[in-house]
Amino acid sequence: MYSFKGKVVWITGASSGIGEQLCYQFAQAGASIILSARSYTNLERVQSKLSGFGAKSRIILIDLELLNQLPDKVDDALACFGRIDILVNNAGIGLRDFALATSLMTDKKIMNVNYFGPMVLTKELLPHMIERQSGQVVVTSSLSGKYGVPRTSAYAASKHALHGFFESLRSELVGSGVFITIIVPGIIQTDITAHALKGDGTLFDRVEATYQSAYSTEKAAKKILQAIIKKKEEVFIGGNEGITLLLQRLSPWLMRRFIRNHPIKRWRKLKRRLNFWKK
Ligand SMILES: NC(=O)c1ccc[n+]([C@@H]2O[C@H](COP(=O)([O-])OP(=O)(O)OC[C@H]3O[C@@H](n4cnc5c(N)ncnc54)[C@H](OP(=O)(O)O)[C@@H]3O)[C@@H](O)[C@H]2O)c1
Repeated sequence: MYSFKGKVVWITGASSGIGEQLCYQFAQAGASIILSARSYTNLERVQSKLSGFGAKSRIILIDLELLNQLPDKVDDALACFGRIDILVNNAGIGLRDFALATSLMTDKKIMNVNYFGPMVLTKELLPHMIERQSGQVVVTSSLSGKYGVPRTSAYAASKHALHGFFESLRSELVGSGVFITIIVPGIIQTDITAHALKGDGTLFDRVEATYQSAYSTEKAAKKILQAIIKKKEEVFIGGNEGITLLLQRLSPWLMRRFIRNHPIKRWRKLKRRLNFWKK
């Protein structure tokens, strides 16, 4: 296994799901971890497991919606171990409602947490990385960053925005020693749908069936570490749903027809067929 010994990794969204698993994988690979999210109780739970791996770690509470507070959080994070080698912008919230049923307040919250928050953290931290001529910024996008499906409008918008910003930034960083890695997860087994918002800003509060038996967070985190090691520019992580990226590239027209009606139902049907042919 590649060693991250001596590396300092700052992970947002470390209190659950993919971010939590990334903490364990990085810790086992020797990194020191800065864990961030809103829930102190959950971060403490994750941190106590990290000490079991002998990893050094610190908690910095962050609410990505509160953009004005983020520059100070970057100073706090830098003060933990004196520098940050890898920033993993992983925190995010989903949406489960139609665009017309979604209030502007909810749209803004999702854009702040998923797009403006990571953007501010990255811009605040980059001068330190550029000065050291070394660093990597990782950002967790989604298939929704590639195409839109019903009931995810602001979420899809925020993830598309990440691609625009980080692609552009990458081209500006050539030769600086700082690398950008965009992670595009498919469907990963987390509680993301339970934590997602309805249009009125309340919690959706239900883990959708598709996510209950999806690609495991452990496998996803291992693959993300591999992508970080190889300094990949962009990588898909997940199961068969990755085929939709190919379909989207080959025929955006066909893809739009596919997602127009009940894409999840259609996806399950297609998956059953694919599994049948695999047998
Ligand atoms: N699971 C999937 O299938 C999937 C697919 C595509 C992309 N993704 C992306 O993967 C990332 C991780 O999602 P997940 O699946 O692991 O979901 P999750 O278990 O719900 O984790 C989301 C994380 O984001 C944090 N977070 C939410 N709002 C925040 C805020 N205002 N400020 C700071 N942190 C906040 C949460 O912590 P607190 O609540 O403690 O703040 C939590 O640690 C997200 O960016 C998501 O969009 C997931």
